[in-house]
Amino acid sequence: MKICMYSSKPYDEKFFGLNNPKNLEISYFSSHLNEKTASMAQGFDVVCCFVNDNLNAEVLEQLKNQGVQLIALRCAGFNNVDLKAAKALNLPVCRVPEYSPYAVAEHACALVLDLNRNIHRAHNRIRENDYSLDGLLGFDLHGKTVGVIGAGKIGRAFVKIMKGFGCNVLVYDPFLKEQDVNDDFTQASLQTLLTQSDIISLHCPLTTDTHHLINTHAIESMKPNVMLINTSRGGLVDTVAIIKALKLKQIGYLGIDVYEEESDIFFEDLSDTFIQDDVFARLQTFPNVIITGHQAFFTKEALNKIADTTLTNVQNYFAGNLESANTVTVD
Ligand code: NAI
Repeated sequence: MKICMYSSKPYDEKFFGLNNPKNLEISYFSSHLNEKTASMAQGFDVVCCFVNDNLNAEVLEQLKNQGVQLIALRCAGFNNVDLKAAKALNLPVCRVPEYSPYAVAEHACALVLDLNRNIHRAHNRIRENDYSLDGLLGFDLHGKTVGVIGAGKIGRAFVKIMKGFGCNVLVYDPFLKEQDVNDDFTQASLQTLLTQSDIISLHCPLTTDTHHLINTHAIESMKPNVMLINTSRGGLVDTVAIIKALKLKQIGYLGIDVYEEESDIFFEDLSDTFIQDDVFARLQTFPNVIITGHQAFFTKEALNKIADTTLTNVQNYFAGNLESANTVTVD
């Protein structure tokens, strides 16, 4: 069985090498998967993809026609796959539903702490021999209200951390399961959460329902000077509306690990080029905005789990253990 890995980085090769006891044959390609690069998968049984590969209907059809039998996502989210088209083509898609919720939740917490205590600005000042404190004033997290949108594996891990700081946590999740309800948080409507939270963190998936969940209307309901954290998917947030709100100080702090147009920017070294995306460039000018390049998942534990689960999914699928292959289904 031959696996073609798109968007591959040296760390993928390292961690898939460490977690491949059956020596499955993997070819590593740095290119993203799209209409132009789908032909590279000719002769492979499995195509292994990441968050910024584009698995639209045309790409899936090309892969199917070339004999590809399985799409193995090495990520949790699957918003970049046209699942209806995959189903129509009878091309199964599997994913890594959970690798380390702690990795992402802890990164969201790092953004909160950095923004609140201005660590990024303090670091730059000290390097310039500037030990003044003006402009670095933070606030106690203890006693603040934190709103968590989406209380799945990552959202619940984030709730626990914020609870540890002594925060009151509100959760909005219309699909929360009974067994996942606990005393760490209070369930709230989206409107209540938006109105009452000092910090809002997004942990729901990107779907047609959640696209631009945080838009001008939602921002108008928030407390002035609110802190917004997004480690989930860029499309949850209307970035142009966010910039307007930052200029008006309606949003006081913004921490993002994801950006709606990130596929042309993140995971690459672009230090020799100009950023063509003016919206992204504008975001970078605010002192109260922290951006990381989709690195919330990036811990040793998560990379080991991603590699292990992806290759186990592939083996389970070809062994006929479809229930253990973590396939994604669509109605
Ligand atoms: P999960 O599936 O365990 O949890 C998602 C939760 O969101 C569920 O409880 C679901 O009921 C809830 N939800 C669905 N629609 C909602 C809505 N309209 N409003 C509020 N809640 C809603 O997923 P998990 O593992 O917690 O991951 C969450 C998201 O984090 C993923 O969808 C992915 O986009 C993102 N992610 C980001 C990473 C990064 O490196 N920045 C890495 C891994 C995941």
